[in-house]
Amino acid sequence: MTTDISRKQQATTDGSRKSVPWWREAVTYQIYIRSFADGNGDGLGDLAGIRDRLPYIASLGVDAIWVNPWYPSPQADGGYDVADYRDIYPPFGTIDDAVALMSEAHALGLRVLLDIVPNHTSDEHAWFQAALAAAPRSRERDRYIFRPGKGPNGNEPPNDWLAVFGGSAWQRVTEPDGTPGEWYLHLFDAKQPDLNWDNPEVRQEFLDILRFWFDRGADGFRIDVAHGLMKQKDLPDVGHDPEHLLAPPDRPDHPHWDRPEVHDVYREWRTLADSYHPSRVFVAEAWVSSPERLAAYLRPDELHTAFDFDFLRSPWRAEELRRTASASLAAHDAVGAPVMWVLSNHDIIRHVTRLGRPQAEGLSNPFRGSTGVTDAQLGRRRARAALLLELALPGGVYLYQGEELGLEDVEDLPEELLQDPTWERSGHTERGRDGVRVPIPWSTSGPSLGFGSGPAWLPQPESWARLSVQAEEHDPASMLTLYTKALRLRRELPALGAGSGRDVRWMDVGEDLLAFARDPEFVCVVNTGSVPVALPAGDVVLASGPLDEGRLPADTAAWIRPR
Ligand code: GLC
Repeated sequence: MTTDISRKQQATTDGSRKSVPWWREAVTYQIYIRSFADGNGDGLGDLAGIRDRLPYIASLGVDAIWVNPWYPSPQADGGYDVADYRDIYPPFGTIDDAVALMSEAHALGLRVLLDIVPNHTSDEHAWFQAALAAAPRSRERDRYIFRPGKGPNGNEPPNDWLAVFGGSAWQRVTEPDGTPGEWYLHLFDAKQPDLNWDNPEVRQEFLDILRFWFDRGADGFRIDVAHGLMKQKDLPDVGHDPEHLLAPPDRPDHPHWDRPEVHDVYREWRTLADSYHPSRVFVAEAWVSSPERLAAYLRPDELHTAFDFDFLRSPWRAEELRRTASASLAAHDAVGAPVMWVLSNHDIIRHVTRLGRPQAEGLSNPFRGSTGVTDAQLGRRRARAALLLELALPGGVYLYQGEELGLEDVEDLPEELLQDPTWERSGHTERGRDGVRVPIPWSTSGPSLGFGSGPAWLPQPESWARLSVQAEEHDPASMLTLYTKALRLRRELPALGAGSGRDVRWMDVGEDLLAFARDPEFVCVVNTGSVPVALPAGDVVLASGPLDEGRLPADTAAWIRPR
């Protein structure tokens, strides 16, 4: 670190103040590189674009950035198919650009998290190419999961596992002598062969890769598919598995998700991170079946943090939101870890859209959301309230680029432009995630609304001119203004930031109302009902929308200093 980033002094319930490690309360801004800012006019976002816009990110008042994979890649899955973990995808820039980006971010007081993809490589990675050229049961093949097929000619896949993006999780190869050969496992696209984490060489390689980037300035890593690395030894059939990525709650012993052996990998990673000063940190992407299973990744000798996906899967109803938030807090408290709240990312339906649709019963599928027509205005009103809610809860928060502008999912991208492998692998039944990856509108005009000097790789809706940074930055009623105000207050108010479930006093103030107090002198109230309600006595510090004669309207939240 080149700069010493000051830590907020955190008030505790007994009134004393202590400093906490930054990652326990940080707000982190996620950058999906190809859609953030295009510095060289080729239609694709890049590192030059990010460097130009770092001052914007810092001005929002966030503490860190998380940059999606930037490595050389055939881009079969937006860069989550890595061909070389120690270099940069040339259209994004160079290693020098990456190092400069990290040091410029540090100079602005921003920490930098990178994205590590350990479950699989690209099929164009040197290791996989060597595996294809080598014989069955060779050292080269043992870095991946190759098996003979079933059936008389070995022409059926080794088991019934399904790929997250659709179809079988097995692909047959042609052996170097031209005969039909073994099959390899790919839990995602066929261009993403799964690594064999029982192989010590694989483990060593990833420790070396982490070291490579830590030594160049990375403050930590987001771990892709952290729950997927280990597979049950004999690769048994899984049977019916409707959700694919979400480890189902009724399968405590799933053959490829959330296996107990995975925890040893993260213990090794933690030891490495702790050998640095300051210690480097991790955040896990782990789709598991309960807050307790998630917390198991956050035991003191394992990972620091993990995204909390239950909260964002909860319907917009006070009771459900309170239930999921308190369950997450309780499970994290049991291992001494902070919760990482999140509403959107590059995989899941943007929350303006999710919240603007009819709300399902129970936790929804975050990749599709509920069915029904989207009311984007309603979604935006709820998104504003949801922001005040998540920023008021103890722990850290992840923001996804563009949510600060109130962007919605683009649901009508022309089919011929869709790039998510889900579209092809589902036989054109699932459109996939491109609608949440449409480039950011920076200005009210120009060929790609300021994203770059030419057209962007995915077209933006014309209406996004009104949601551009330029349109919103001086508008007191804009989403952007709400984000900057709320983030500034979150740093200033001693009650906010780090903490545990014990710092939250839930208040029973009526059905459809979610309310809690934190010390000192802070109350957050959210109205998920349909009529305005009276506010608790106090001064309104910030509200997500205009009040109605002093009352809190439907789908609105307020931060209050109680009297
Ligand atoms: C994670 C990433 C997603 C990617 C998948 C496979 O879920 O967030 O974008 O497609 O892993 O790497």
